[in-house]
Amino acid sequence: MERTLKFNIFRYNPNVKNDKPRVETFELNETPRLNVFTALNRIREEQAPDLMFDFVCRAGICGSCAMMINGRPTLGCRTLTSDLPENIELYPLPFFKMLGDLSVDTGIWFRGISEQLESWIHTQKEFVPEAEEERMDNALANKIYESERCIECGCCLAGCATAQVYPHFLGAAGLNRIGRFMMDPRDQRTDEEWFELVSTDDGVFGCIGMMACDDVCPKDLPLLEVFSYIRRKMSVVPFTK
Ligand code: SF4
Ligand code: SF4
Ligand code: FES
Repeated sequence: MERTLKFNIFRYNPNVKNDKPRVETFELNETPRLNVFTALNRIREEQAPDLMFDFVCRAGICGSCAMMINGRPTLGCRTLTSDLPENIELYPLPFFKMLGDLSVDTGIWFRGISEQLESWIHTQKEFVPEAEEERMDNALANKIYESERCIECGCCLAGCATAQVYPHFLGAAGLNRIGRFMMDPRDQRTDEEWFELVSTDDGVFGCIGMMACDDVCPKDLPLLEVFSYIRRKMSVVPFTK
């Protein structure tokens, strides 16, 4: 039987003077294979032309449609309404800069993390454009690839208790990023340099390890494995100095 869905959506536009945060309710008839992203488009077309939310790919690749759906950070384009009750609560991701309604700016944070962690290969080797590509062990290349699959959606930070309290916490996305470069044999940063970067309360020592990030990551990244790798690597540094 066709259901009538109730979308209770957080509304607030920080650019409109005196606008107040509130929840507005919109009703929509459920159609087969309806997902939250398509439902929001229909609401915007038929009922609320000023509703703000983000999307690009509609295929779980760009990470821009992440939001809180019934209290859980996840991707709107990958969430079927048939998996949800009739009452659907939509809120923007916490932690990131609010742009309006369901739209937040994850880009500022991810760019900041890239600069802070210097997310590029650090090497003294001279770049020779005509040289053959360096070989890498297949198993290691696969491990690095697994970390590279992060779509920077921000769900892990929205679901992380530490990130809500400490705004400079690297979170799973930041730790995963640093793990990716630590694993890469082409990056010549020393263990001591990694230690300086990541062994702080804003880094790996601030993580309480309950793995909410792992539960909500829509790409199923092996976050537990990456965190263990970083901890193991960092635990030996003070004794090797
Ligand atoms: S394990 Fe917990 S504290 Fe650590 S990054 Fe994940 S959600 Fe945050
Ligand atoms: S680690 Fe997962 S949840 Fe976090 S930003 Fe990357 S894809 Fe999203
Ligand atoms: S629109 Fe790109 S991940 Fe949902």
